[in-house]
Amino acid sequence: MVNDKVRVPDLARMKAARTPIAMLTAYDYPFARIFDQAGIDVLLIGDSLGMVVQGADSTLPVTLGEIIYHVKMVVRGRQRALVVADLPFLTYQVSVEQALRNAGRLIKEGGAEAVKLEGGITMAETIRRLVDIDIPVMGHIGLTPQSVHRMGGHRVQGRQSGNGPGCRERLLEDALAVEQAGAFSLVLEGIPAELAREITDRAAIPTIGIGAGAACDGQVLVMHDVLGLSEAFVPRFAKPYANLWQDASAAAASYIREVRERAFPAAEHTYGASRGKGARPS
Ligand code: KIV
Repeated sequence: MVNDKVRVPDLARMKAARTPIAMLTAYDYPFARIFDQAGIDVLLIGDSLGMVVQGADSTLPVTLGEIIYHVKMVVRGRQRALVVADLPFLTYQVSVEQALRNAGRLIKEGGAEAVKLEGGITMAETIRRLVDIDIPVMGHIGLTPQSVHRMGGHRVQGRQSGNGPGCRERLLEDALAVEQAGAFSLVLEGIPAELAREITDRAAIPTIGIGAGAACDGQVLVMHDVLGLSEAFVPRFAKPYANLWQDASAAAASYIREVRERAFPAAEHTYGASRGKGARPS
């Protein structure tokens, strides 16, 4: 583990040293602080917030302003982790100028240290221009949630059977194009493990997998999947390490019961008329 502040070049060092990179999404101050103190290397303010925080059925409605709002909270909560912010749908695909301006806002207004965008060969020029003005870029290929309609759902990519002939080769070309354009790392989402291994072996930049097997240089998960904060559906590739949905639900039920039974507030939660009598110390 890197003990000091994690910076963009550290990820390349971690790949060289074969130290796995641990990345999680975070969307607010308390969770950023919890993950940072636990030793996470990278915090991603993902546009997944559209689904797990806002309750939408895709990431498409998320706006740049919403990402900036959440980046600010995460930045306040972290000391060590590298903070990467997603460019949401239609904030970078229209033109290179649009991408430069909006990525710049994530850095300048939000305080992110790098941006992430989805796409391979078609995004290479945009990545190159961002890197030219010193905005570090994390690429993202494979199952790219902003392409949900083209893919016909959130489907595994790079399978000859499901995605047609040549899809494997296209993903390899995408990975190399993103690397050659100057991205410092690459998220591989929802692709077969052997393909992720091949990309990881061939790419000089670190790969960070989600639903892409164990051979990637790092792993990323959505915090709600790790903490068991989703009501029902847990994707196959995710592993819940806690069940906060159940814990929160039990806590809320206990509170409601105690209010109804007048068991809360008890004397120790109540201010007295004089100082020191049941009052919080000032
Ligand atoms: O939006 C997001 O959280 C992501 C990760 C799942 C990689 O892109």
